[in-house]
Order: sequence, then structure tokens, then C-alpha cells
Amino acid sequence: MGDSRIGGLYRLSVPERIDELQRRGWLSAADAEQLRQGRSTLLAASADKMVENVLGVFGLPFAVAPNFIINGRDYIVPMVVEEPSVVAATSGAALMARPTGGFTTSCNESLLIGQIHIHDVDDCATAVEQLSEARDELLELCNIVHPRLTKRGGGVRDIEHHVLRLPNGDAALGVHLLVDTQDAMGANLVNAICEAVAPRVAEICGGRVALRILSNLADRSIVMARVSYQVDDDIRDGIVLASDIASVDPYRAATHNKGIMNGIDAVAIATGNDWRAIEAGAHAYAARGGQYGPLATWSAGADGTLVGVISLPLKVGTVGGNFDANIGAVFGLGISGVENATELAGLMASVGLAQNFAALRALATSGIQEGHMKLHARSVASSAGVPDELFDDVVADLVSGGDIKVWKAKELVEQRKRTKVAEPPDGVAAGKVILLGEHAVVYGKHAIAVPIQNAVSATLRDEPTDLEIPELEAMIALIKKELGVEDSPYSVNISSRLPVAMGLGASAAYAVAIARAFNSKHDLGLDDIAINEVAFECEKLAHGTPSGVDNTIATYGVPMLFRNDESLHVQRLPDAEMPPLVIACSHQSGRTREQVANVRERREHNSTQYDAIFTQVDELSLAGARAMQDGDYEALGRLMNICHGLLTAIEVSTPELESMVALARAAGAVGAKMTGGGGGGSIVALCPGRTAEVRETLESAGYRTLSLN
Ligand code: MEV
Repeated sequence: MGDSRIGGLYRLSVPERIDELQRRGWLSAADAEQLRQGRSTLLAASADKMVENVLGVFGLPFAVAPNFIINGRDYIVPMVVEEPSVVAATSGAALMARPTGGFTTSCNESLLIGQIHIHDVDDCATAVEQLSEARDELLELCNIVHPRLTKRGGGVRDIEHHVLRLPNGDAALGVHLLVDTQDAMGANLVNAICEAVAPRVAEICGGRVALRILSNLADRSIVMARVSYQVDDDIRDGIVLASDIASVDPYRAATHNKGIMNGIDAVAIATGNDWRAIEAGAHAYAARGGQYGPLATWSAGADGTLVGVISLPLKVGTVGGNFDANIGAVFGLGISGVENATELAGLMASVGLAQNFAALRALATSGIQEGHMKLHARSVASSAGVPDELFDDVVADLVSGGDIKVWKAKELVEQRKRTKVAEPPDGVAAGKVILLGEHAVVYGKHAIAVPIQNAVSATLRDEPTDLEIPELEAMIALIKKELGVEDSPYSVNISSRLPVAMGLGASAAYAVAIARAFNSKHDLGLDDIAINEVAFECEKLAHGTPSGVDNTIATYGVPMLFRNDESLHVQRLPDAEMPPLVIACSHQSGRTREQVANVRERREHNSTQYDAIFTQVDELSLAGARAMQDGDYEALGRLMNICHGLLTAIEVSTPELESMVALARAAGAVGAKMTGGGGGGSIVALCPGRTAEVRETLESAGYRTLSLN
């Protein structure tokens, strides 16, 4: 594993984060692909084998905290948690610990205690003596219960006895079996051993078996972690004071420890461990002195640094049925990179300590609410559909204004857009989305395309050419030549909300925006027909034999019905309003040229069937144009669904596009289909009254979405 220091991970989209972790070697290509396709979570069928009366599965965010160094090694920590700020606080605290070498952990032993309680014992002192004499026999009896565990080097190591006084005054005996469960959590192992040997223990003591089960107070698996921080003296002293308060006030200690468990539980869940067991053990341990106290404490080191130490019982596992049954746990463990249970326990303790530091630091300075507010504002901005380019600014405005509401976020977007209008770009152009008719259009049939408004803007700058975009150099040169402004001193700056290679007409929109920018800057007075022609030349440069649709829609920016038989026939749909569409991009680029060639080849083998399909698609497009003009979205949606079925029939859809279409429909889209060439690319969903829901569903599943304007 490489360097776990990853700056700005939070700024990326879900798919970009997956790409980044894969690029840095923290995710294998196969795992990254599974995450992208949303196949990294438990299926209902598997859940049904885990517990009773299953209806489905329940989702929680699966995140990572980068930046950890523990015992000199880098870690990216998997965390499953629903509370905002926890992941950010953990990674921030891990980052701050790097200059002093990160965390160090230790663990003297890792034994799980199995308890056998015997009552009705006449004389406990004699019973203890008898049990001590029978130690070897009992150990042997214990260790034949799980021969495989013994073979792996585990097994019952020792037996201890505790005489207990019951509330009614009777004595009882607690016999502790100290079991080395190796890398398993070991609950079932230990319970089976307790049940197997309890009768013999009772026989030796001359008493009766009361209980036989493990103890969750796993204080024979104490893990310690230590860290030091270079912070300002006042912050250090504030944190030490907070720690001291927790040591004398159980009310504060409970909250102090809750913050620690925010981190530990999140890792426990992400790695398939029993967090209730960990919680029970941690709190029992925190009360071991008779008063509930803090699991982590902070003091000033001799060198003036802030030193934190945590110790708590952590008997966790990395192998066993639970891990194999839940694919989410397999992912969590994989990302954590831990090789055994002790290493995982050290990681959890470090995360708990990091959480505690972050919470106390916030409490000792600005209070905990500031960070919470920022995250809350991010989530509100996301619900309000704030566009990427305004996102950080709107979040900052929401926090500073204090009114963190969806309506406020929308208002801020409008305000910022209005201010932007004050300095308009030199040229803008639309992208396109095909609503009906892709592929059939290659065979002379009708198709409908709808513009994605203001998708690309181009601004010309006076500065020399270092702002030019290398990928667009040939296009810019051609445009300058076509417009006769080869000597233009300006460089081109582009702002685009269109992803490329997604079948959304990005290259044509670039060409139109750039051509318009030069037209306006040099006062050339060209009309749309001329701009469209220049853009068509650029499309030829990029695609060989383009249909002319993309540049036409990029130029005119209105919905159109079109057909191409040798030449392009375009019919604008002037009465059609822009339908409420959501576009979502898959994680695979669309390879239109390849898909068109594949369809052509398949058509050769089944020309009658393929031509029948294309004729049907033609009818769908014509009916779709009428439905659009009438604003009949129910009808249009049904036509889109049929069209998707036909595109699937000609094998241009992919499993990912199918699942995106299904997600959109389940979230309320009346019609959803792949759009463009297929083999990857995008889907388009028609969602009257449900655009926010469909958008959110697709975004939560990790897909980038776009709206028409
Ligand atoms: C919130 O989940 C956790 C904190 O309350 C912990 C603490 O107060 O130390 C912030």
C-alpha cells in the first residue's frame, strides 16, 4: 500500500473518489468496478440467510478516512456511519498526527473470556482447589472441542476462578476460560467450549451449572494507542482540561466516550465486527474502577506536545462466517489492508483516539457546531441541486448567513447566476440528448433531440495562449481558419458542464461556443447558419462522417425532430416546452462509432427483424414529437420505455445502463432509456414532478447527473 495522505478527497464525486483510490493502489481494478456498479453491498438474498423475517437491506454511508499512519504504516480506514462530521474529523485528526509520526499501538494479549457460572456449591474455597487440581484435565477437555482452532495455534490457555456473592447472600463460582481465538471474533467458538465443559466443571465443584457463555468485558484483549500532537498551548491546555473533567464527571465521560465510539463502531461495522459486543465491553471497562470514566486521556508531554492515550477491550475478528457472508465487510477489510485481528484492533483504537482528539479540539476552540454546520450546508446544497461550479461558494454563504435551508440555497444560486450575467461569456452553446430514435436514425428514420442549454461557454482572453486547452488545439485552429482570424491574439477559456464521450454532443458544443466567441470578439457578424457550418467542419475533423445533428442542436438550442437520408432534414418543435428530464452518466464512455458498426453487422444477419425494429422506432419518434408538442409526458414516457426495450433488443444497452434505467423508473420517472450510441454513455429519464427524487436516487447510487438548463 502506498501513501495514505490524500488531499481533497471530499471534493471529488463518488465515482471520482473510487477512481482516485484505484489510481493510488488502494482499490484493485475489480473492487473499484464492483463499487462503481453498486455491487459492494449485501444482497437481500444473503441477508435472508443471516437473520429472520428479512424484508430487504438497510443502507448506511460507506466512507473512507485517509491519512492514517499507525506503527509506521499508512492506512485508509473504512467507516460505515450516518453521522455527519465523523469521517471528516477522523481524517483531519489523522492528518494532523502525521508530523509527529502518527499513532503507535500495543496489545499484550488477545484472549476472549468464556464464563461458566456454578451455583449450589457447598464450599467455594474447596471447589476452587478442586478445579485447580483438575486444570490439565479441563484444558484438555476444552481443547478437543475445536481441534481446528488448536491446530491453528489457538485454544484455551488458562482457567481462572472467581467467587461471587449473590444478592441473597449465596455464593456462586465464576469459572473463566481464557481462549485464544486467533483472528476470529470467537463468540461461537467460546460458547461451544463453555457448553461442552460446563457439566464436568459442575461435577468437579459439586454444584449446578447456571450460565455458560462468553463475557463481552474482553479485558484480556486490551488494546492501547498513543499519539502526540503539536498544537497551540491554549488548545493543548483546553483538551487536557476536557480530559480531566471527563475523568471526574461520568456525565461528561459518557459523551467523551460516545465520540470515541463514533469512530470505533464505524470501523467495526465496515469490517463486519459485532459493534454491540465492542460497545458493551468498552463501557464496562470504562466503569472498572467503580466510577464510569474516559477511555482516552490527554496530558501535556515533557516537550510541550499534547499526548493522548486510549486503552479499551477490543476482541475483534478478520476471519469467520460473518465476513464471508457480507460482501460489504469483505470490502471494508480489503480497504483497511489489515492482515490480522490484532492489527485491526490497533487501527480501531487509533481511530477512536483520533475522533476524541477532533471532538475535544473543536470543543476547546470554536465548538462542535461549526463543522457540523458546514457538512449540513453541503448536504442542503446538494439537495437544492446547486451546480458544481457554485457549490463551494453557496456552502460558504449558507454557513455564514446561518439560514441553512434548501430554499436559501436556491436563492443564492439565482443571485450568483444573476451576478454572473453581468460578465457574459463570448460564446455559449447547447449540448444534446437524444430522446427517441438513436441507431434507427442511421437507417434514415426519425429521431428527436433536445438541447442541454448553456452547456458550454467560451471566453476569449487577452493573455497569451497558456490558457488554451491542448485537446482542442486542432479545433481552435480550424475555427480560426474558417473564420479568417488566424492571427487572432486571443486565447480560449472554456467552461463546460458536459462530460465528454457520453453521447451528449460535447465536441459540437465546444465548436459552436468557440466559433461564437471569435465571431463576437472580432465583430464578424456571422449568423447561426454560418456558425453551424463552421461547427460541422469541426465535427468532421473529430468524427469523420457526422450526421450534423449535434452541431445543429448546439447552434439552435431548440428541441428538434430530424431525419438523415443522404442529407439532414431538421424540423424544429416550436411548441414543445423543455421536458422535465434528468440525464445521468454511467461509468463507461459511449463508443458511438463502434456501436453503430456492431449494429450494422448484426443487422446483416437479421435484416428483417432489425428493419422492423427501426420502423417501429421511426413511429415512436413521430408519436414522441406529437406528445412533446402536446406536453403529454405520460405518453412520451411510455414511448421512451418502448424505445429503450428496442435498443436493448439490438444489444446496445449494458447491465449498468439497465440498472440506471431501473433506478430512475423506481424513483418515479414515467420514462427512462439509454441515450445515444450505447455500450456505455448516459441515460435520460422523463420525470414530471419527480426530477429531484430521480436525481437524488441516481446520485446516491454514484452517478453524475445533469439537468437540461
Ligand atoms: C458527537 O457524536 C460526539 C461528541 O459529542 C463527542 C464529545 O463531546 O467529545 C462531539
